[in-house]
Amino acid sequence: MHLNSIHPRLPLVGLLVLASQLMVACGGSSGETPDPTTDPSVVGSEAPSADDQPITEDPAFNNAVGFSVVREPGARLAVVEVDPEISDATFELGLPEAVITVPEGVDTTTNQAPFFEDLQNLTVEAGEIIEIVYRPQDPEGELPGMFPEKLPQGGTFDDNFDGSKTFRWQPLQMDVGILKFTVTALDPENSLYRTSQPILIKTVLPEDLSSIPNVAPTLDTLLTYTARVNDPVVFELKGIDLNGTVPTLEVPNLPAGATFNQHPRFEEVFVLKFTPTTVGETVIDVLARDSVDSSLTTTEAVSLSVLAADAFDRDGSALKALASNRNVQIGFAALQSFYHQPDGAIYASTAAQEYDIVTPENSMKMDYLNPEPGRYQFAATDNLVAFANANAMAVHGHPLVWYRQLPTWITSSVVAERETHMSEYIERVMTRYADDVSVWDVINEPMADDGSLRDSVWLEAMGSEYIDKALTQARTLAPAAAILINEFDIGFAGPKFDGLVELVDGLQERDVPLDGIGFQMHVFTSFNQFDELEANFAQIAARDLDIYITELDVSLDGSATIVEQAAAYQQVVNICLEQVRCKAIQTWGLTDQYSFRSNFDPLLFDRAYQAKPAYGAVQDALSVN
Ligand code: XIL
Repeated sequence: MHLNSIHPRLPLVGLLVLASQLMVACGGSSGETPDPTTDPSVVGSEAPSADDQPITEDPAFNNAVGFSVVREPGARLAVVEVDPEISDATFELGLPEAVITVPEGVDTTTNQAPFFEDLQNLTVEAGEIIEIVYRPQDPEGELPGMFPEKLPQGGTFDDNFDGSKTFRWQPLQMDVGILKFTVTALDPENSLYRTSQPILIKTVLPEDLSSIPNVAPTLDTLLTYTARVNDPVVFELKGIDLNGTVPTLEVPNLPAGATFNQHPRFEEVFVLKFTPTTVGETVIDVLARDSVDSSLTTTEAVSLSVLAADAFDRDGSALKALASNRNVQIGFAALQSFYHQPDGAIYASTAAQEYDIVTPENSMKMDYLNPEPGRYQFAATDNLVAFANANAMAVHGHPLVWYRQLPTWITSSVVAERETHMSEYIERVMTRYADDVSVWDVINEPMADDGSLRDSVWLEAMGSEYIDKALTQARTLAPAAAILINEFDIGFAGPKFDGLVELVDGLQERDVPLDGIGFQMHVFTSFNQFDELEANFAQIAARDLDIYITELDVSLDGSATIVEQAAAYQQVVNICLEQVRCKAIQTWGLTDQYSFRSNFDPLLFDRAYQAKPAYGAVQDALSVN
């Protein structure tokens, strides 16, 4: 093709920029980047600087009502990949081993697993088209079915109607690196008896970059959204060009009164803001234009369902009014940056009507808040606090010390320095939000399933004392706040709950401060150990501790109905209300639209912000005296 005399922006350039930014962040000035795992001169958690302070965001970029939004200052933060890329060395080892799943009841001596022949790793130049024929075999002679785990963008997997399928893909500049592509074959007799065979595809740049075709850009897909008439709506529209360039976006027919602006931090994002004034389906065409060849375009329709204001009315009293009569708080975990979502206004208004306590679902996690040594991203949490203050909601801080969602600079830090990192982090976060947060998950998920302490970077560095240290420090920094240990799978009897009780007893013997236990309660509709839940609450209460239901959601399993789901919610709320030490009930999310388990529709509101039977069930439970 013709256009490629202009050099596309290469991912390699991005990597170099990233490396140099990291060096600055780590204090390196010249020469090689120091290795933080072995070089103790790399001082980790420097204090946030004035450069980290959020600045006011132009309202054209959000739909917040009643509070003003701040954003991160300056340019985009260099993203440090958490998942290690597949190394060249791994690639050289050859075809990765197949994973065979044997379900119960299969006799592997008489029925052997399906397998693939003739597959190997391959190296391809960006712009080349690869075709791989997959022809799984079954030792018993029949034709196994198959499916690919995930297709790379632009890839296809087509049936040849002779027992084989062909994978076709043209990797481009954005694909430079090593991709693991997996196809699973199904045993003809038992489709749960499976062989998953990965291959590694290494994409390199050709010497002659002009051999890479320039493809039309596309738009990042959006969900289906519901909005309330006369509420502001924002769409963050993201252009994607697999050649690695940045497409321009255009809206040929802007809705009346709309603004359309390039994002101040993300050049590939354009923000459309408007206020629909009529009820109905609104469809807006968005065109992505190639930055190299302006004749290459793709148009996609973005749609929004606009409902009348009274479509969101609910019968009965708001949950928070009912809950406050029963001396419990009721709340939810807030989607990070909900005010940047198309349906952010109805999200905020539903939450404000119903709840009096909120947890940030992700924005206070260390990987997000402190992604590089000395670099902090406070804007998302500041905004949540502003939203909470504007709506008389308490804020539940989550989580200070956890084994997951850690930045790489912590997971790869020198063991001897981790205690300093932990205490500096706790101090900075708790001090910043001291006046705003009334409950803190100081320790999150410390227990392993068998009741021992879960392995973590913190346990590795300080042994079990990390818990004592963090709680003691938290009490000093926030004497009036409730400080908790938050844990999952403790709503039933078993070694994990027993281990937690043992931990608590030890803390109390050593006079370590602790106010309560957070019971996460991510359950399925099949959960039926309500007696055990009650007994576990009683054991915690007997230790003079409060109980918080911190992350309640009830996933629909199998053919379960939303009525069965409602019953489970009702029972959990009843058990909380029967226990005088139970202080709060919070669901993990607001709507099924954004639940981290959205496949299982586990929450009180559906994707269109309509109350589900579970909402009524919680109302009923809170109403009974
Ligand atoms: C989850 C969030 O909901 C997801 O958006 C994120 O990708 C992973 O973490 N226990 C916890 C929560 O303490 O912080 C987790 O939240 C869910 C399990």
